Amino acid sequence: MVSFMEIPRHLAIIMDGNGRWAEKRMLPRIAGHREGAKSVRRVVEECRRLGIGFLTLFAFSTENWGRPQGEVDGLMRLLVQFLREEAPQMAAKGIHFHVIGAKERLPEGARQEIAATVAKTANCHEMVLTLALSYGGRDEITRAARCLAMDVKEGRLGVQDIDEDTFSSCLDTADLPDPDLLIRTGGEKRISNFLLWQLAYSEMVFSDVTWPDFGKQELLSALEEFSRRKRRFGLVRPEPEKSLFAGGR
Ligand code: IPE
Ligand code: IPE
Ligand code: MG
Repeated sequence: MVSFMEIPRHLAIIMDGNGRWAEKRMLPRIAGHREGAKSVRRVVEECRRLGIGFLTLFAFSTENWGRPQGEVDGLMRLLVQFLREEAPQMAAKGIHFHVIGAKERLPEGARQEIAATVAKTANCHEMVLTLALSYGGRDEITRAARCLAMDVKEGRLGVQDIDEDTFSSCLDTADLPDPDLLIRTGGEKRISNFLLWQLAYSEMVFSDVTWPDFGKQELLSALEEFSRRKRRFGLVRPEPEKSLFAGGR
């Protein structure tokens, strides 16, 4: 146990293991995704209670489009259902909803529901909940490069003005701070094309628990682990101050 819990300003989660959760129970994979949606509700609520300012959840990657059509369709239906059910709750609890990723690839129904949820929660300030949908870090970086190239070509920007700040401002996450902590559930220890630029100095905690089984206890234990980390950002940490009279003088 740590004596105090450090709360990350921005927590990002790769919600993995829905399929394996279902397969272990001889259920179709979509049953795992359905159960995963319940975890989203629980974790969002707990993060808001803990005072986490920004929560970003990886829900669907650019590579996930390559899954069997039935699973992709099922996930899109689940997304629409989730937003329909949760939007009023989000608005009531002050949760500002936001999406990152190549939204134009999403089906029309999902895009409409996203727009409605964003509008409904526009004046909420308790927490920013971002869903990464049709999201890939490489895709996001490529789109940002294209956007900067257009600005240079059309004379709005000089090549010498391209620095880390202008680049960041062209990413989908322009309005978000970098994540302090990344949690990946489901046992794999990889990034899978999530927030490649933004995770440069994030702490990472990997949990073996599959996402549908990830609850309050697992979240708290990841936050405890985060609280024990010593972040240095490439610098040298100052020595803790020593008493002048300490140690055999
Ligand atoms: C994560 O669970 C959800 C999505 C990627 C949409 P998976 O569907 O990847 O579950 P596993 O990793 O196959 O168990
Ligand atoms: C990462 O999980 C994507 C999401 C959680 C949405 P995947 O299951 O798609 O990643 P890999 O295949 O294990 O790398
Ligand atoms: Mg997976």
